[in-house]
Amino acid sequence: MGLFSEFAFRARAAVQWSLPPFKRVVSFEQVRASCSAVARLDDLSTRYDLSAWSRFCNRQDWRESLYVLDVLDRLLPKSLPAGRALDVGAKNGAMLPGLATATRRGCDAVELDAHRRYLWGSTRRVYGERMARAFPDCRFIAGDVRTLEGMYAVVTWWLPFLTPAPLEAWGLPSRFLAPLEMLRHVTQRLVPGGVLLIVNQGEAEAGLQRQHLESLGSKASALGRIESPFSPFSKPRFGWLVF
Ligand SMILES: C[S@@+](CC[C@H](N)C(=O)[O-])C[C@H]1O[C@@H](n2cnc3c(N)ncnc32)[C@H](O)[C@@H]1O
Repeated sequence: MGLFSEFAFRARAAVQWSLPPFKRVVSFEQVRASCSAVARLDDLSTRYDLSAWSRFCNRQDWRESLYVLDVLDRLLPKSLPAGRALDVGAKNGAMLPGLATATRRGCDAVELDAHRRYLWGSTRRVYGERMARAFPDCRFIAGDVRTLEGMYAVVTWWLPFLTPAPLEAWGLPSRFLAPLEMLRHVTQRLVPGGVLLIVNQGEAEAGLQRQHLESLGSKASALGRIESPFSPFSKPRFGWLVF
């Protein structure tokens, strides 16, 4: 498994050519018609500009980004310093509309396995780049977050890999399991007054996350269980705000 995932990862990184992204874009009205949390959707849509979403998001993008917008709207401090936002482990940029809209600033979305290819021949990277172009001053970065040297006012990190099993399930080589090193690097990217939101899946992961935060001496508040009317997730999620 280890050798295979290493080989497959290298093969993906070597063949970066991609077909363009294919998307069935869905409008706000279509999403609203099938939404089970219409009151919250209307509340968010009156306070945030979702117009670009109707032009660039498919159903999955809407689902992931509405979840992100709902959570960030409630959990981020109301006053944030100037500076860009960053999403760590951004997959194909599906959550970027949520981050850019909630923080109203230029964002970077970084993804290590950006050249992973869908059955129809497009890679995550082209989806991420298309999404980044839809929002002012946003970028999709194909690479390891540990290579980023910029500074950020807001960082989101949904489901960091803390144990070997999820890393393997996502088909990544074990050398990328470096939770403490990554956490140190990411917290060092925060401008003074900046904030990092980490969300873990399950109590065991949240317990491990606590240990990592404590071992680095990070100033963090436990947010407890993170709920959202837009959450499609069955496993409970737990959050941290790191300052
Ligand atoms: C469990 S997935 C979570 C994806 C997404 N944040 C979400 O909540 O659906 C972790 C993601 O982090 C990415 N990742 C892992 N290590 C990384 C690194 N060093 N730099 C950037 N991305 C990384 C993985 O490729 C994967 O897409």
